[in-house]
Amino acid sequence: TAAFAVSAMDKETLIVGTSGAYPPYEFHGQSGDLVGFDIDMTEAIAKKLGKKLQWLDMIFDSLLPSLMANKIDLVSAGLSATPERAKRVSFSSPYEISYSAFITRVDYQPKSTDDLTGKTVAVQIGTVQETFARALGNVEVKTYQKFDECVREVALGRVDATFMDIPAAKAYVKAKDFDGKIAIAFNKQITGADKAIAISKENVELTAAVSRIIEEMDKNGELQALRDKWFNE
Ligand code: ARG
Repeated sequence: TAAFAVSAMDKETLIVGTSGAYPPYEFHGQSGDLVGFDIDMTEAIAKKLGKKLQWLDMIFDSLLPSLMANKIDLVSAGLSATPERAKRVSFSSPYEISYSAFITRVDYQPKSTDDLTGKTVAVQIGTVQETFARALGNVEVKTYQKFDECVREVALGRVDATFMDIPAAKAYVKAKDFDGKIAIAFNKQITGADKAIAISKENVELTAAVSRIIEEMDKNGELQALRDKWFNE
C-alpha cells in the first residue's frame, strides 16, 4: 500500500512551532506559560478551524526546516513573510505589519545605520534582521539564539546596538530588567514588515483556511482587539 502524508486538515491537533522570546508576539509570562499576540491569535484561528493546538517552543532558526520536514504544521513566531522564505514555505495573509527599530544604551544615540559604522550589532540567528545587518557592511554582526540575549548584551554595554520588529523593541525597552538602560535610537524600514503564519507548501487547503480566518478577524475587529491587548504602548 502506498504511504500517504496526512493532510494537516485531517488532524484533530495541529502542532505550532514558535520561538518564545519575542514579546509581545510570544514570550513566557509570569507563570512560565507561553503568552502573547501570536498565541492568542493562533488559538482563535484553531478554534474557528475546530482544531486543538500543541505549541512547541523552538530555536527560531529551526522553525522553517521543521515545517518543511512536516514535524510541525504551522509557524507562528512574529515571522516575516519575505519573498526569500516564500520559495520554501507558504504564508497566510499578513496579520501585522511593522518595520524594525534599533536599540542602544541610553547614552549612545546613533540616528542612522551610517552612524553605526565600526560598531557591533547583535541580532537573532536566522532573522531578517541578521540578513539586513550582514548586508550593511559597515558594522560587526554578532549573532545570538534569542533576542533576549541581544538586548542584554546591549544593556550590559558589551554590544553597541541590536534591532528587531518595532513592537518587540518597544516591549524590551519597557521591560523591568532594562528599564532606563536602553532606548530606541531610530526606526528602519527593512524587508519583512509583514508578519504571517507559515505553513508547508503541501498544505494548500490549510493555508487558504488560515488566510480566510485572518482576513475575517481583521474585518470583524478581533485582530484589532488583540492588537489593543498586546501592542498598546
Ligand atoms: N520578524 C523577524 C523575522 O521573521 C524576527 C522574528 C523573530 N521571532 C521570534 N519569535 N524570535 O525574521
